[in-house]
Amino acid sequence: MTGTLLMSLVSCLISISQASLINRCDLARVLRKEDLDGFEGYSLNDWLCLAFVESNFNISKVNENADGSFDYGIFQINSHYWCNDYRSHSENICHEDCQDLLSPNLLSTISCAKKIVSGAGGMKNWVAWRLHCAGRPLSYWMTGCFLG
Ligand SMILES: *[C@@H]1O[C@H](CO)[C@@H](O)[C@H](O)[C@H]1NC(C)=O
Repeated sequence: MTGTLLMSLVSCLISISQASLINRCDLARVLRKEDLDGFEGYSLNDWLCLAFVESNFNISKVNENADGSFDYGIFQINSHYWCNDYRSHSENICHEDCQDLLSPNLLSTISCAKKIVSGAGGMKNWVAWRLHCAGRPLSYWMTGCFLG
């Protein structure tokens, strides 16, 4: 009895702490639905690698930078240039509230990512993508994903 209660408490806590994580293939499905496959020449593999190196697939990740700006969401989009967080200077090029980039439906963050990748430098705007994904074999990112 006590063991069962403990187990359900533990699994409940685990599911709460992982609520912000999206499964790799689920992410691939959303990205494809939102037309990112081939967008500006980048494949789903590139987008999955980007999401992994930036956030470990954590939709609600927020990280403070040394310059006082913050990075938001699965693609760690920066508040200095792209979204408004109302606490540091922002160009707000995406015309988004930074908090909206944390939405579980990913729509705002994808729309902002499209804007970023459409600019000069493409995905190289993300340093982690350039360091860890660019020019590497990436097809394993889609392994086991059946997009239907
Ligand atoms: C996801 O990011 C949020 C905010 O940075 C953090 O509090 C949470 O622990 C992270 N989730 C996981 C499972 O790492």
